[in-house]
Amino acid sequence: MANVQLMSSDREALERSIHEIGTDLASAFPSSARHPLRALDQRAMDLASADQELKAALFRFVDVTPACRSLDDLARHLREFLREVPDAPPPLAAAMRMADNRAARTAIGAAAAAGVKHMAHRFIVGETPAAALGVLRDLWNRGVTSSVDLLGEATVTQPEADRYAARCDDALTELARAQRGWPSRDVLERDSVGAIPRTNVSVKISALTPLLRPDAPELGRRDAAARLRPLLRRANELGAHIHIDMESLDSREAVFDLVLDVLSEDEFATGPSAGMVLQAYLRDSPEQLERILGWTRTCGRTPPLTVRLVKGAYWDHELVQASQHGWPTPVFEVKADCDRNFEALTERLLDARPAVRVAVASHNLRSVSHAIAYNRLAGGEDRDLELQVLRGLGDQLADALASRGFRVRAYCPVGDLVAGMAYLVRRLLENTSNESFLYEQAKGTGLDVLLAAP
Ligand code: 2OP
Repeated sequence: MANVQLMSSDREALERSIHEIGTDLASAFPSSARHPLRALDQRAMDLASADQELKAALFRFVDVTPACRSLDDLARHLREFLREVPDAPPPLAAAMRMADNRAARTAIGAAAAAGVKHMAHRFIVGETPAAALGVLRDLWNRGVTSSVDLLGEATVTQPEADRYAARCDDALTELARAQRGWPSRDVLERDSVGAIPRTNVSVKISALTPLLRPDAPELGRRDAAARLRPLLRRANELGAHIHIDMESLDSREAVFDLVLDVLSEDEFATGPSAGMVLQAYLRDSPEQLERILGWTRTCGRTPPLTVRLVKGAYWDHELVQASQHGWPTPVFEVKADCDRNFEALTERLLDARPAVRVAVASHNLRSVSHAIAYNRLAGGEDRDLELQVLRGLGDQLADALASRGFRVRAYCPVGDLVAGMAYLVRRLLENTSNESFLYEQAKGTGLDVLLAAP
């Protein structure tokens, strides 16, 4: 599609269209739409959002939960973590005093464990692909397709990486077998380029090798490539899609080089369908996108690479890393800057079709409405834009989008609580941020504000 240079009158038309689309989508939300994490414990989440120390303590607590042997053990940890909070609010101070007594500790531990489990079940659709199939099929029936993410990342041993690769291979096979029998849904499985696979698996490279360190990127690349190739072959046999997730910045170059190199190999010239992620919170993401587009021009593999545009889930990690090393921060620190970059990247990606397939992954109604409006203004068809959400956070948005005929995909983690803990902590960190769009929406902020240009 030709590059569209919007004139200022077009910009005004775009804003009007964003407002109309956003208002219509919001009207398709159930009126009781609430911030999903608030169901966990509204009070604790409110406190956590307001108090950085408490928030840090809660996250450390969530992190150790799977390793706790008993409820008593869990409560003891909770008490220790809460002790680190200088001015604990009164209900917590009372809980801490109670935790000195064994019976009370057991009660608190049970409540906390139930809270973490309850939260986990919002996000994790099953412990195994077989257990997840019911949820995936329900989504499909509601007009929402999926990408299954096998939980696990940052492996430390070779056998662990082998096990992760084997789990991915099993998931591809099992999902493809089951999904073949599902009823056809044109919106979810066809765009103007052609067929879109039903089976879609997201993979983390840090789980495919224990060697993905910035000081030995070449070693990590080779090790991960040796486990990625068989997965690409399997996906090709099954007609499935493999999506490579991006993680923290310290592995980004290695992951980019690895994926672009492997996908350029002759044996993958015509399949499988594959994708990568672009993280808009990174200041240099526009350069990364140009690199991807340059690659698509020279490589010319089919089907086109899918690019999933996300904000990025490692924001806190990147800030801490940078400050520990005295580096300039690689991420936008002001939300509006990140949102503006997200929109610029959306436009650039949509203009680059058909060299890429575009998936815009956001829970921000403004960003999603902008992608839809820009696509239409540029003369694109709705089916040539995919929208993505995270299971458990974007469910209502997904339903609203599906009700309006858009292709929407839910990212669905599969695995156990231990493997999923890092994932859960990222969801908590994102969504207790005072700047979270979902948090704003749940507070009842008006549509005019929510849909305003960043
Ligand atoms: C994460 O694992 C969704 O890939 C993203 O946090």
